[in-house]
Amino acid sequence: MTAPTVSRRRFLKQTAGLAAATAFGPNLLLRGADSASKRLNIAVIGANGKGQVDTGMVCLDHNIVALVDIDSERLEGATKAWAKKFTTAGLPVPQAPKGYADFRKMFDEMAKNIDAVIVSTPDHTHYPAAMWALKHGKPVCVQKPLCNTIWEIRDLHRAAKEAGVLTQMGNQGRTMDGQRLAKEWIDQGAIGTLKEIRLWTDRPLWPQGPLTKTHPACPPNVNWDLWLSTEADEPYFEYAVPENAAAQTKLAAEEGKKRKRSSGPHPWNWRGWWQYGSGALGDMGCHIMDASFSILGQQIPVKIEVESSPVTLLNAPVWTRLKYHFAPTDKHPALIVSWHDGTLDDGTPNKPERDPRLPKEVFDKAHSGMMFIGTEGIVFEPDAYCKNPVIYSEERFADVKKEMESGKIKKTETRSAFPENPQGEWAHCITSGGTPSSNFDYAAPLAEFVSLGNLAIRSGQAIEWDAKAAKVTNVEAANRFVKRAAYRKGWV
Ligand SMILES: NC(=O)c1ccc[n+]([C@@H]2O[C@H](COP(=O)([O-])OP(=O)(O)OC[C@H]3O[C@@H](n4cnc5c(N)ncnc54)[C@H](O)[C@@H]3O)[C@@H](O)[C@H]2O)c1
Repeated sequence: MTAPTVSRRRFLKQTAGLAAATAFGPNLLLRGADSASKRLNIAVIGANGKGQVDTGMVCLDHNIVALVDIDSERLEGATKAWAKKFTTAGLPVPQAPKGYADFRKMFDEMAKNIDAVIVSTPDHTHYPAAMWALKHGKPVCVQKPLCNTIWEIRDLHRAAKEAGVLTQMGNQGRTMDGQRLAKEWIDQGAIGTLKEIRLWTDRPLWPQGPLTKTHPACPPNVNWDLWLSTEADEPYFEYAVPENAAAQTKLAAEEGKKRKRSSGPHPWNWRGWWQYGSGALGDMGCHIMDASFSILGQQIPVKIEVESSPVTLLNAPVWTRLKYHFAPTDKHPALIVSWHDGTLDDGTPNKPERDPRLPKEVFDKAHSGMMFIGTEGIVFEPDAYCKNPVIYSEERFADVKKEMESGKIKKTETRSAFPENPQGEWAHCITSGGTPSSNFDYAAPLAEFVSLGNLAIRSGQAIEWDAKAAKVTNVEAANRFVKRAAYRKGWV
């Protein structure tokens, strides 16, 4: 797999006019051929927010033929941002993508002119939007978490296999070198025997914890019915923060006001509502747990213990502590991956215990992070993606660097040619062959691993998981959270 080169950029500049002229013609999808002569016709569902970033990852190398957003103002903003990518790059702006509010209408009208689909909506719409794409035989790149129920994750994976198309989840850490390096170190004994993994994040930074609903008029630019998609019909709502809410919930609401964010679930705030989002864990888990999932050989945990602040049927809690229990493998003993998120009531970050080999000042600075704790050292990542892992103690790290130089520790993991760009990597694989780093065979079980924590959080007690049967075996009531209660007609 090769990344676009300078000459490819020049080629694109020269052919941009031609590409614009042919923008809406069907493209050939030949695998294993030279990508430089092929541009995909890509549709982006959920065009603003992260969708705008995802569009930017591919729009100079491919044709964006449709942008879909249920918010007319945000659709306009996304279209302007798309055009700016070209002017900033000194390229002529091609024919504008067609704009839609309803992705179903887009597929009805122009499916034959679409080669591939990016889905970057709120979590609850990943499943229907990606299913519509798959039913039309289109490769899909879906933001993380793949879906916000385990049943949907598995069903989407099944449908993608049946469709036989290339898939990707938008967890960019999976395309970065750092995650591969950490696996090589741990696989090849750089920190001795791996005993435990501790993960954490300061999210939620949006209002979460028990909230109440108010029912003001829906803003005219928002198509609320389309925003709900598969979820039960209900009037437009915004949140109110109860008097007795956690300090963190109040702070997040204040911050939202300062940033002039709506108090509705749209945009961004849907994260704290179980129907539409998946809480702090669902938001960050597919990033922060990704390296662990890879290092542990893509296993599914067998048991998850939980402790959290109050959780309701509607809202995720402001802090959580989870212990994911993994069975032993031929590489690692049985071990626990722990997860901490949020802020405690006294305002302190809910972080795990620091391993004494990690300097306190380094640990204190990390709002999110990972500690892979071994008998002879720790691998530490000071952020969510495992982009820049390091080893402590410093003496041990110096030795490991020497072992890498001498070839004692080898490069065994294939690097992505598109680090930090899962959308670009996926599109390149479609035109030129190769396997996207976070294709659904990898991403679906990763998202399931993450989501199991939410089953425990919502159940309020430890759960034991039978992955084969897709069933919680010790708490029957937890199984109601495995699948969405109902789907609105016309969406799936
Ligand atoms: N990989 C990352 O680093 C990263 C970062 C941020 C968000 N995300 C993921 O991206 C997705 C979007 O998050 P966001 O923060 O941009 O949310 P957002 O609410 O800010 O933006 C979502 C956009 O989708 C539109 N939308 C909503 N429902 C739609 C529908 N039915 N059809 C078409 N458009 C619809 C909204 O109007 C909005 O413009 C989520 O899955 C989130 O987890 C990933």
